[in-house]
Amino acid sequence: MTRKTPEELRSWRWYGRDELRSFGHRSRAKQHGWGAEDYVGKPVIGILNSWSEQNSCHMHLKLTADAVRRGILQAGGHPMEIPVLSAGEMLTKPTAMFHRNLLAMETEEVLRANPLDGAVLLGGCDKSTPGLLMGAFSMDIPVIYMPCGPMMKGNWRGTTLGSGSDVWKYWDEKRAGNLSWEEWCEIEDGIARGPGHCMTMGTASTLTALAETLGLVMPGASSIPAVDSAHLRIAAAAGRQMVENVWLDRKPSTIVSERSFENAIAVDMALGGSTNAIVHLVAMAGRLGIKLPLEKFDEISLRVPLLANLRPAGKYLMEEFFLAGGIKALLNVMRGILHMDVPTVTGLTLGENVDGCEVYDKDVIRTPENAIQPDGGTAILRGNLCPDGAVIKHAAATPALCQHTGPALVFDSYPEMKKEIDNMDLDITPDTVLILRNAGPVGAPGMPEWGQLPIPKKLLMQGVRDLVRLSDCRMSGTSYGACALHIAPESAVGGPLALVKNGDLIELDVKNRRLHLHVSDEELAKRRAEWKPAPPRYHRGYAKLFVEHVTQANEGADFDFLQHGPAVPEPEIF
Ligand code: FES
Repeated sequence: MTRKTPEELRSWRWYGRDELRSFGHRSRAKQHGWGAEDYVGKPVIGILNSWSEQNSCHMHLKLTADAVRRGILQAGGHPMEIPVLSAGEMLTKPTAMFHRNLLAMETEEVLRANPLDGAVLLGGCDKSTPGLLMGAFSMDIPVIYMPCGPMMKGNWRGTTLGSGSDVWKYWDEKRAGNLSWEEWCEIEDGIARGPGHCMTMGTASTLTALAETLGLVMPGASSIPAVDSAHLRIAAAAGRQMVENVWLDRKPSTIVSERSFENAIAVDMALGGSTNAIVHLVAMAGRLGIKLPLEKFDEISLRVPLLANLRPAGKYLMEEFFLAGGIKALLNVMRGILHMDVPTVTGLTLGENVDGCEVYDKDVIRTPENAIQPDGGTAILRGNLCPDGAVIKHAAATPALCQHTGPALVFDSYPEMKKEIDNMDLDITPDTVLILRNAGPVGAPGMPEWGQLPIPKKLLMQGVRDLVRLSDCRMSGTSYGACALHIAPESAVGGPLALVKNGDLIELDVKNRRLHLHVSDEELAKRRAEWKPAPPRYHRGYAKLFVEHVTQANEGADFDFLQHGPAVPEPEIF
């Protein structure tokens, strides 16, 4: 690999030349207190920081940024911290997914518009990982992703609490009358005990682990808890590595390939990772011109065992995963399954990065011989109800419901469902298949995490805790239950889900990957002829751009105009 000269640095175009604009750029650098010796002819490294008081998962990222800055300076680079959209999962409405593509656009344009030779991207809360990486892939300058790390495990009266999963569980108990208001408040006190992202194997833990599998994270960083001092030490290492990677022009297109994505899918299955990983991996790959048909997920799922014993599919939380050896140990265990020769940001291969990494707790990280289940945690469904696919995390579903036929009960919107779900006169039995529609990429918009529809109170009181549930939205990676999600095409654009009527028989058959509506083709054609789309709701702004350009779930729900294409020219500097 040849090293760049200082004159070949991208930042040289801003700072190094003898012309009017360079005078302006250098004089304003002096306004910061930076002399030419600080940055001219040195790699200028952006620290794209998604810190915000809007996002408690990222509350410590100012400290992380300081550690990255220290590493950049140690290696002879020049740090430039730039804030970017945070899109915290808890507060952003209608869903942070609605803003993932906005973050991706912002990341790409911030990287392009500024004198940056490379960047360390700070994120971790669900959509920040794909958003930052999608933008970085499109811009394609050297980057390292620095995850914020998971939070400590929660605690209530000596019982471990897991983000998300235990919220859904105890909410159902409260609705069933089994939990007092005081107990509920104590759970609120103990479930989020400090900085970091959700500490179950939800979307955040999944996506940061997959970013590391793709070769874009310093080895082991995705498993380190946010409050562990190793987090700051590895952040500094990321800063040092980033400077070296700029000199060597080690950019995403030289690291990430179709084989890297096959690794990421395999690790997702071994982790029992979030169903959201599918839509994000498809979108990220699309930015590099790599197609990931849903069948690839299913093919890999059928041959990769579930190895990580982590909630919601298993027993433990991220802190225990880290102490058991973390992602490095898991990758080493998967040596016979993964392409270990793929490159990474360290300049070493994935296999070299994890060589010798041991498992310290064999119940948390299993071997293929001692797997939790012989196949992966997620399945892709096909059928007349989802011609372009649907997703189910059967590892976290009641096994008996994975082969089930029952009558449909349809809700046309989330508000309608919320209003009716606790109606004790609801015509429902444990066999009912609950359906939520108009909740997909266009319909909601942004396919929120509504897919784990609440169990109706009438059934909760009978002791029922799982039902077959279908929707064109997503569910939280911390959720569980027999929920078929991401149904495509979605109902708002006329997908078959729009044609279901109450009482229609629906068959879910996970073993045979089938989701079938038992209504004749003639009857469906009649219903389709009568179907009318809802009138447009948005006439200006980001929401209008979103609904006019978002693709369906099986295509990653990216904007059609952001997918891979001819490179956008570098900005002129006049
Ligand atoms: Fe940030 Fe769960 S709310 S990762």
